[in-house]
Amino acid sequence: MSHENMEYVHPLPVRIWHWVNAAGFVLLVLTGFQIRFAESLGYMSFDSAVTLHNWVGITVIFDYFLWFLYYFGSGKIRIYYPDLATFIPRMIRQARYYGYGIFIGDENPHHMTAENKFNAMQQKAYIMLMFVMVPLQLITGLCLWDMTQYGDLIAKMGGLKVVDTIHVFLFYFFAIFMVVHAYLATLGHTVSAHFVAMFTGWEEHH
Ligand code: HEM
Repeated sequence: MSHENMEYVHPLPVRIWHWVNAAGFVLLVLTGFQIRFAESLGYMSFDSAVTLHNWVGITVIFDYFLWFLYYFGSGKIRIYYPDLATFIPRMIRQARYYGYGIFIGDENPHHMTAENKFNAMQQKAYIMLMFVMVPLQLITGLCLWDMTQYGDLIAKMGGLKVVDTIHVFLFYFFAIFMVVHAYLATLGHTVSAHFVAMFTGWEEHH
């Protein structure tokens, strides 16, 4: 296959991490709803939902380490850091494109390369996601999984009520995030372009 006019943007560890993580979060949300609304929903038993939720949660924790080790080990984590000098104007330009320009056929102001993969809005969202929200969700999940073993950590975080509230709040956040994220991922030069790139690694320049 010729890769003329294409750029290799998603190395294999990133693709493996991403799709294991995505499948994991879909399962966590489905089992999470079943656990939370056990009386109204009935697509699996409460016990099966808890067991599956726990195993998928552990898988997603190991998967997070793959993302962490790859990005920090290779130094490529820099692509997640916004350039503070240009961040605000880039962000405004990108928001204007998504809110208006895209509907009148304007060109996307961001041109993806391996070293500058994310536009300003993605950078802001992804840094929050991978540095704050995902770790917080995994840590609170671990605490709820074994409250005795992680009793000290639960106490340090403000008690079981706080830990549970954070976990449930982030659960709703991730359920909505995935819909918005999957929609934004369809806004490449074709509907499937970014999805294909996340499988093959290669993004086409347009
Ligand atoms: C239905 C599930 C999902 C789909 C269809 C999906 C799709 C995609 C696609 C197509 C990309 C490449 C284009 C882009 O950068 O926007 C991407 C990147 C990314 N996604 Fe997802 N995603 C899903 C779930 C998730 C979840 C649950 C998370 C985190 C909790 C996540 C975090 C990310 C991050 C951080 C990137 C950038 C990765 C990198 O290049 O380093 N995604 N996603």
